[in-house]
Amino acid sequence: MTQSKPVLLSVRNLKRHFDVGKGKTLKAVDGLSFDVYQGETFGLVGESGCGKSTAGRTILGLYNNTDGEVLFEGQDIHQMTDKERKTFLKKMQMVFQDPYASLNPRSTVYEIIAEPMEIHGMYKNKKDLRNRVNELLEDVGLNRDHANRYPHEFSGGQRQRIGIARALALDPDFIIADEPISALDVSVQAQVVKLFQRLQREKGLTYLFIAHDLSMVKYISDRIGVMYLGHLVELTTSDQLYKKPLHPYTEALLSAIPIPDPDIEEARERILLEGELPSPIDPPSGCVFRTRCPYAMGVCAERTPRWLEKDEGHFVACHLHDEEIMQEAGVRAEPAAVR
Ligand SMILES: Nc1ncnc2c1ncn2[C@@H]1O[C@H](COP(=O)(O)OP(=O)(O)OP(=O)(O)O)[C@@H](O)[C@H]1O
Ligand SMILES: [Mg+2]
Repeated sequence: MTQSKPVLLSVRNLKRHFDVGKGKTLKAVDGLSFDVYQGETFGLVGESGCGKSTAGRTILGLYNNTDGEVLFEGQDIHQMTDKERKTFLKKMQMVFQDPYASLNPRSTVYEIIAEPMEIHGMYKNKKDLRNRVNELLEDVGLNRDHANRYPHEFSGGQRQRIGIARALALDPDFIIADEPISALDVSVQAQVVKLFQRLQREKGLTYLFIAHDLSMVKYISDRIGVMYLGHLVELTTSDQLYKKPLHPYTEALLSAIPIPDPDIEEARERILLEGELPSPIDPPSGCVFRTRCPYAMGVCAERTPRWLEKDEGHFVACHLHDEEIMQEAGVRAEPAAVR
């Protein structure tokens, strides 16, 4: 069970707000709490603009936090000295969504992969550094002949492999992969996912894997956190999320995934979300999802849902699952009956 593994990363009430002028604040990340266990893949899912990349960047310390904590191996990464931060950055690395924009077009593949090791002064000897770059290229399914070429000479999938090799250069324990496959052709996506899985097995890596839909992430994640407008709305194992989603937003995300069996596909109910994602500058009161929720009740506009553990390790923030709220509203908290 993943649950018995040690916690590597602990995110506690993390907030990252942006000042957007005219006295307005954009709450991109507004109170995230979750743990990532050593060796697991934690998927962070939600539609465009819900704050996934901001969360990833704040967890890595590329952005300051507005509030809350990010504890890596128990140490708050936003309170580190420069020296501690340098050591931390060897352990946590990021792979970015866009393999075109994230590689310097004027550097050779060798220079791109060697750079982090040069910054950290890891190899005094040029030959050792060259050997290490070759080894990394092979680790990601490229070869040493690729080292002297430039990023534009590669396909999207190959460029993402270069980005992964660079992220691996410092031999990290933890990788934040921010939509690493969504810019790639569908045929290439599965190959890159397999690469992530193989590297995890070989190197004992822990992943925070960010994605905007559940189709691929549910196969590779041990647990998944579903985000909506800067908040987590549900968190559980991939299996449980798929079999027994509790939050209406999770149901909607799941119903957007095509099922290969035509009979099931035909029979099942699709939940289409109406309306646009509200602005994080002026989020809805109470439950942020209520403006698009097919089950919204009066109380949803008035009170912020509590983060409830409904089954062991299965968390949800929804009044439909809060017995106290439902009793007050005169209904028993049995969402199956509500639906
Ligand atoms: N530097 C910034 N300054 C102001 N607002 C920002 C900044 N970065 C992100 N935002 C806003 O924060 C919100 C969350 O953005 P973010 O990029 O984290 O979302 P996302 O979930 O990664 O979306 P996508 O799936 O499109 O990558 C958006 O409303 C975005 O416009
Ligand atoms: Mg993003």
